[in-house]
Amino acid sequence: MPPTILKIGGSVLTEKTDTPTPKPSAIERCAAEIASYHPSADNPLILIHGAGSFGHPQAKKHDSPDGFTNSGIIEIHRSVTLLNELVVDALIENNVPAAPVHPFGCTVADAARIIEMQTAPIALMLARNIVPVLHGDVVMDSALGASIISGDQIVPYLATQFGASRIGFGTAVDGVIADGKVVPEITPETFEAVRSHIHGSEGTDVTGGMLGKVRELLGIDIDSYIFSAAKPGMIAGFLSGDEPGTRITKTGNRPVVSMPETSQIPTDSGNMQ
Ligand code: IPE
Repeated sequence: MPPTILKIGGSVLTEKTDTPTPKPSAIERCAAEIASYHPSADNPLILIHGAGSFGHPQAKKHDSPDGFTNSGIIEIHRSVTLLNELVVDALIENNVPAAPVHPFGCTVADAARIIEMQTAPIALMLARNIVPVLHGDVVMDSALGASIISGDQIVPYLATQFGASRIGFGTAVDGVIADGKVVPEITPETFEAVRSHIHGSEGTDVTGGMLGKVRELLGIDIDSYIFSAAKPGMIAGFLSGDEPGTRITKTGNRPVVSMPETSQIPTDSGNMQ
């Protein structure tokens, strides 16, 4: 059975502050919704979460033209692992056999793109009913020394490796928003018309925001849904087969909405992830 891949954005799980601040009730609710899906070898799930205030401010602080120092790399990595521990703890408390998989220890990047990730342990975990929980992380990079790899990039990488059945991106907004409305569907053909209406993230986001997500998902041939994980029930709904928010697909069949001229779009309606 091919796995479902779910990413929960950092802004769902953490406050958008300059210091690491979790949202304990959101972490607990997301864990309970995942538990209701009963992930298992017959129903495999790979979970990936963002870094939010446990990664973006730290990555920004240590960013320099010479790349990250070793102490910067270690501080960023250790900070995101703290959030990972909170997520894994919440899942275990909800009886989900979840285990941390830190990209830092099993991934090589080249110019900030994943070129290698050790996936054999993940495959063996899935076969044993274990839910691997990965996250956006700093990883060693053959060109740059080290680079930030978003969960948004890990999702399509693993989806391709494992031939995922579906992908969900639980964000802090209802989907890809253009002109105040959720875009029902984006295909490679409609992306150009929609992209100028997609705004960046608010807060400190070093990994590309909503546009970065859509770009990553358009590169693969697996239907993906970007939806709000801040609204109770949406994660459980997606996992049980709902098609919430914006679908990113190679072959579209949702109604096409016409896009207004860019000048009509208010510029202050940024998309938080
Ligand atoms: C960012 O990961 C990783 C670091 C900044 C270390 P993501 O890009 O997946 O995080 P969110 O979802 O935007 O918070």
